[in-house]
Amino acid sequence: MGNLDMAVGSILLALISAGIYIFLISPAAKRRQLEVSGLRGPVPEFPLGNISEMRKESRAPAPPTGQSMITHDIHSAVFPFFSRWRESYGKVFVYWMGTESFLYVADPDFLSKMTAATTENSWGKPNMFRQDRRPLFGEGMVMIEGESWAHRRHIITPAFSTSNLKYMLDMVAESASTMIDEWSSLLASGRREIDMYDHLTRKTGEIIVNIVFGRNDGNGKEVLRRQIDLKYQLFHLKQTLASEAQGREMDRLLLSSIESRKAAMDSEEAGAFVPRGDLLGLLLTWNQMCADHDSKKLTPIEIVGECKTFLFGGHETTSVALSWTSLLLAQHPEWQTILRKEAEEVLADAPPDSSALAKLIKMRWVMNEAMRLYPSAIAQRQARQDVRVGEVVIPKGTNIWVDILGMHHDPALWGSDANEFRPERFSDSLHGGCKHRMGFLPFGFGGRLCIGRNLAIFEYKILLSSILRRFSLALSPSYVHSPSMMLSLRPSHGVPLILTPLPVN
Ligand code: HEM
Repeated sequence: MGNLDMAVGSILLALISAGIYIFLISPAAKRRQLEVSGLRGPVPEFPLGNISEMRKESRAPAPPTGQSMITHDIHSAVFPFFSRWRESYGKVFVYWMGTESFLYVADPDFLSKMTAATTENSWGKPNMFRQDRRPLFGEGMVMIEGESWAHRRHIITPAFSTSNLKYMLDMVAESASTMIDEWSSLLASGRREIDMYDHLTRKTGEIIVNIVFGRNDGNGKEVLRRQIDLKYQLFHLKQTLASEAQGREMDRLLLSSIESRKAAMDSEEAGAFVPRGDLLGLLLTWNQMCADHDSKKLTPIEIVGECKTFLFGGHETTSVALSWTSLLLAQHPEWQTILRKEAEEVLADAPPDSSALAKLIKMRWVMNEAMRLYPSAIAQRQARQDVRVGEVVIPKGTNIWVDILGMHHDPALWGSDANEFRPERFSDSLHGGCKHRMGFLPFGFGGRLCIGRNLAIFEYKILLSSILRRFSLALSPSYVHSPSMMLSLRPSHGVPLILTPLPVN
């Protein structure tokens, strides 16, 4: 046997050994560890774990149409496999995606002990998701961990200070007013229906481009368009290479925007337009302030990641929350009247500022109730160390899927009306009467709590009050109720509503 043959043989042997370790020995050891802790779940199959079962059950039956067919009892339709496994294994169990173990958690008490047992730095994000979401979020805050995440969060928090929010709200109010004009023109031209999801996604997209770049940045718009395309590809393995190419093209566009903005800042004295309240301005100003501390500066590719994270995270969730709210209000015209009256009284003709918006109390109940029934976002973690929760040890490397949707619909936490739209449940408490403080998590939990939540709440209130003061909403017969989870809980067939203009006072 020649030297070459021996080398090839050794490489093959090493690959086979690595394969046996990764696919058989390590998962089996992890499974034993979990079982010793009393954590069980559906039996995984080699090599996909429980993926085939999940895929098979996700093939949805024909969705129902018509007002009478709309049910908010959606957990078993969105996550049929979790719903079924819960019946056998309870609210905390283990399932497998290939060789990766996932701990399903829908017990707020367990979640609260789990987060109290460690600091946020002990948790990361699942490796398997970090890989396929990299083109979408790059090195943005939502993807990084440990000290780098804490440092980034510290730099970005001031973007949402009271004074900076005012700057952002002015931009939101301007966009809301153009949206109402566009819709009025559409209706005047004979259109009766508006797809709220489509229009609100475009509008919140326009708003976030302005918030990130401080002006209508062409590259920002293009990146957002590509991100929206890309989110549909994430769920198709075949598209991975194409996604990565898309991701690199987005990076190129954003780097070019960053370069021209830096040049504009350098020539500021010459009168260049340099707004300070936008995210990019804030990050570049931070770098200027750290001129003598290179280690604290953000690299261009880190800034690109933050721009991507904000562009995507900052519009999709808000548009989804507003779209589900519009649907719920179309079903409950009495709540349209209540919110319209509140908006007229509180806002009158003044431009909406944060103190006036904070007085839209009933609108906040409705927002909470809409995000309870249709929570926009998901929360996942990966243990970076062994974590003890009472008698249970979650081994290092275990992924966590927190089923926010499951907790928000659990009658044991909310009562027998858990699947009904009852905004008044939030009249007495921020947690809507939920039996556990951690049972209501529309903006996540712990140190990773949504950084943009105040902006989201104000943006929601400005857009919704603008809509309700000019139009009444009714469900279109073409509406198909089919919520589906794709990074956020989306209405798969949009939310077409019939809008009727109200007399202008
Ligand atoms: C209704 C609208 C929104 C909802 C429901 C929402 C929900 C969430 C949730 C649940 C998380 C935690 C995810 C996790 O635990 O992994 C999160 C994180 C985050 N959100 Fe939001 N969000 C909204 C709007 C926004 C807006 C407007 C922005 C920015 C302009 C934003 C930026 C972020 C960022 C950067 C993070 C990552 C924070 C971190 O990892 O430290 N979100 N959001």
